[in-house]
Amino acid sequence: MQTVTETQALRAAVRGWRAAGQTVGLVPTMGNLHEGHFALLKLARARCDRVVASVFVNPTQFGPGEDYERYPRTLVRDQSGLADHACDLLFAPGVEVMYPFGTDDAVRVQVPRLTDTLEGAHRPGHFDGMATVVCKLFNMVQPDVAVFGQKDFQQWRVIERFVRDLGIPVAVLAAPIVREADGLAMSSRNQYLSPDERQQATAIHRTLLWMRDAQHEGRAREEIEHEAMERLRAAGLDPDYAAIRRSIDLAEPAEDDDEPRVALIAARLGATRLIDNLVLD
Ligand code: PAJ
Repeated sequence: MQTVTETQALRAAVRGWRAAGQTVGLVPTMGNLHEGHFALLKLARARCDRVVASVFVNPTQFGPGEDYERYPRTLVRDQSGLADHACDLLFAPGVEVMYPFGTDDAVRVQVPRLTDTLEGAHRPGHFDGMATVVCKLFNMVQPDVAVFGQKDFQQWRVIERFVRDLGIPVAVLAAPIVREADGLAMSSRNQYLSPDERQQATAIHRTLLWMRDAQHEGRAREEIEHEAMERLRAAGLDPDYAAIRRSIDLAEPAEDDDEPRVALIAARLGATRLIDNLVLD
């Protein structure tokens, strides 16, 4: 596996593959890779002749006081994990490569409405930074296919939206959430948790399963959301939201709306903020 840090070297490699008639898949990440990331790589591998992974801790998607500085950076270990999962090329640019005019003066990709709610409401500017860097990666790599995780459900929907609206010729695929044996969704942020917090964190997935059961029993959505918040608090978490939404656009479903739904939770444990979700239908 080749590692490149500059756009020119990236383009040269991709150009060679394209000239040979090969298709290219992209898996964007912020590194500190785990089995959740490797599942995306496997899906890209199954769909494309060549697979590019990117590792870039994107400063513009972190808010003030969030974990940009302490986000785990483990490039050497990531490189061997990627090589083990048949990645062809790792793109690991510096901030100056991704933001040639600096982060403050960067052109922004902003998706209205869809980013006003849930994560967007609790992390102002997060999705602008995320959509901006993913759009840049699409332009730099020009992949046929890009793979994301359903773990970041709203992120996936935001990416689908700007890809379609901006007419970017890439197929966006989403892979299912990979979980630990006790149900906790794998995340680079899990390692911030103390042993006690790690135990308490299992309440997130348990609560999602409870929300699914409660919906199947026909209970009212607001009531389920309210009780889910209480259950999370009782387990020692500080929830930002526990919500049931339409999975297509994350809007609040009307009572008679039979569009597929998703339950989503964001909760804090000490200084750590975790998100998870479960498709209900
Ligand atoms: P990161 O958190 O590193 O995640 C990279 C990709 O891995 C995302 O698509 C995410 O949904 C997926 N992923 C993470 N944990 C997963 C799990 N347990 N199961 C399945 N997929 C999982 O998301 C980002 O980085 C950034 O926002 C990025 C898209 C790279 C833009 O900076």
